[in-house]
Amino acid sequence: MTKSSRHIVTAALPYANGPIHLGHMAGAYLPSDIYVRYNRLKKEDIIFISGSDEHGVAITIAALKEKTTPKAIVDNYHERNKKAFSKFGISFDIYSRTSNPIHHKTSQDFFLELYKKGILVEKNDKQLYCKNDKMFLSDRYVEGTCPKCKSEGAKGDQCENCGSWLNPLELILPKCKLCGNNPIIKSTKHYYFPLGKYQSELEKYAHSNKNWKSNVLNYCEGWFKEKLSDRAVTRDLTWGVKVPIDEEVGKVLYVWFEAVLGYISATKEFGELKNDSSLWKKYWQDPSTTYTAFIGKDNIVFHAIVFPAMLIAHGNYLLPKNIPANEFLNLEGGKFSKSRHNAIYVEDVIEKYSIDALRYTLTSILPENKDSDFYWKDFQARTNNELADIYGNFINRTTTFIQKNFNGIIPSIGKLSSSDIEFQTSMMKLPKKVGNHIEQFHFRDANNEIIDFVRIGNKYFNDSAPWKSISTDKEKCQNTLHLCLNAIKIIAVVFSPILPNSSAKIWKMIGNSTNIENENWENICNLKVEEGKKLNEIQIPFSKIEDEMIEKEIQNLEKQNTEVVNNTVELMAIKPTITLEEFQKIDLRVATVLSCEPIPKSKKLVKLEVSIGIEKRQVIAGIAQEVDPASIIGKQVVIIANLQPVTLMGLESQGMVLATSGSNDTFALLSLSKDVPAGLHIK
Ligand code: 2FM
Ligand code: ZN
Repeated sequence: MTKSSRHIVTAALPYANGPIHLGHMAGAYLPSDIYVRYNRLKKEDIIFISGSDEHGVAITIAALKEKTTPKAIVDNYHERNKKAFSKFGISFDIYSRTSNPIHHKTSQDFFLELYKKGILVEKNDKQLYCKNDKMFLSDRYVEGTCPKCKSEGAKGDQCENCGSWLNPLELILPKCKLCGNNPIIKSTKHYYFPLGKYQSELEKYAHSNKNWKSNVLNYCEGWFKEKLSDRAVTRDLTWGVKVPIDEEVGKVLYVWFEAVLGYISATKEFGELKNDSSLWKKYWQDPSTTYTAFIGKDNIVFHAIVFPAMLIAHGNYLLPKNIPANEFLNLEGGKFSKSRHNAIYVEDVIEKYSIDALRYTLTSILPENKDSDFYWKDFQARTNNELADIYGNFINRTTTFIQKNFNGIIPSIGKLSSSDIEFQTSMMKLPKKVGNHIEQFHFRDANNEIIDFVRIGNKYFNDSAPWKSISTDKEKCQNTLHLCLNAIKIIAVVFSPILPNSSAKIWKMIGNSTNIENENWENICNLKVEEGKKLNEIQIPFSKIEDEMIEKEIQNLEKQNTEVVNNTVELMAIKPTITLEEFQKIDLRVATVLSCEPIPKSKKLVKLEVSIGIEKRQVIAGIAQEVDPASIIGKQVVIIANLQPVTLMGLESQGMVLATSGSNDTFALLSLSKDVPAGLHIK
């Protein structure tokens, strides 16, 4: 047996400002849980760490919206999210919170260490300031257009659309999130982390592990190309971890600076709960430990660049060996997003559906390399046609056959035929194949491998036709049933990282009195069923989902969407009045779309060539996610023809296409009621 190794696995600390949804699960938590459960079965020394991220403007804005205090927000969502994770089977060893004193101390000490080493740079620098609210607008207190992908609604610290990490000053047309006014620029003192100094070390680090996922590496390359620069790690806010320097009243640590250190604080807390206050050291400082950090794609820069740089600067800590970030999970073709209320919350579905059916579907569609979609009908189809009809059926036909024809007693095994041996051989290969996929973070492949093997099991059962051999060739019949039951035993263990609940049930059903979690992955191939032993009561492991339930879910989503649209319309205040002369300065024209193509490397932008009669124009428009480029060729649209040209992704845009400011369902291009000559003036 191979010697066990030590691992620490962290999963991003979600903001305690809203409920956990399936998008979160698919991004970081389900993959990390599968990985951890698998390693536990391998008898590795592994701890699984997460918790609530309770600071930052994400929390204070949520408090404002819900008309309550930040403390009430985090207390509420911490408890709810902890429960949702636990019910979903996410088996953290600890789910901590960054409001815990141990975290405040850990992050303050970390900051002080960098400060004392002279690593942090103190600078008086320009920041956005709202004169109306009399405050500096850090991070999410300000929104505007993303300077990188040009999408609207980018937050001061991050654009959720393209994942860029932003400085509020870079936002185009910034607006105070509280009052909507345009901020002014004012100077304030902050502590900066000199990220640029670590660039070459970070590049070496990112390239040191050949197993990094390409989405993570490509993302880092983009950052390296732009050159890393100093980043402020303090903020003028009251909610957060206080800057541990006496004269710095009213300043806190930047939430991303301290949140990542939350993994260390949570490990310390875990040790204390186990009465071992130095336990954390072996997981964070002993070079024989492997650290794996699971995250969603919007967290890549902080985990693959900022956090490693902080750890290098401090010294004395292990860096993540791998950062298997997933892309986004969309819902029914649109984005899962808390802010747009277009999401499936875990707490809403855990009581209604089988957790394992949800885990199975999510694992099958994990956005491992690119964004993927959750469709309610797909969830129903996978549950009914795969879990129930393939896996459930294999279990059911095997166990009921034994029940009926052998009084529930596991039949003995005799001389095997070539088809028996063939089936047995593919069964023996399964654990290794699945394990390899999991170790490479290919969870979808692991899942497919198992369900494909179950298909083989069903075929073997069919081809062996025990209902015939029971009267013609008893030994053959017994071999079939014995091997099918043996396969079920192995499948239950191999599936248990993905389907922990049903695996445990099936394990008991086939006559085991032990706990399935005590099995050893390395030993799965040797798992035999014991002839002469009695099966326990047979239950249907997976029930089917009725059409009505799914239709109701889809209707609910539609209802949610309409509510959001109505709210959005209500929320947009009318802009200040302009005169007719001012309006007449805008040259609006009918334009015929001659060509429209996606722009490589841009998710949002397309390149249009339009005719405005007297001339052709190249227009770069942020509509790639809403329209199929080919579908608008030949259509007539409305453009602003006298807008100063701008360069986007290196291409000149000589006009702007008019469209609603919505996305997906609320997106529409302005078009005309009939075809008219291109170039006509619109007034
Ligand atoms: O994206 C988020 O929800 C962040 N709160 C993740 C933080 S991960 C780490 F820094 F703790
Ligand atoms: Zn304001």
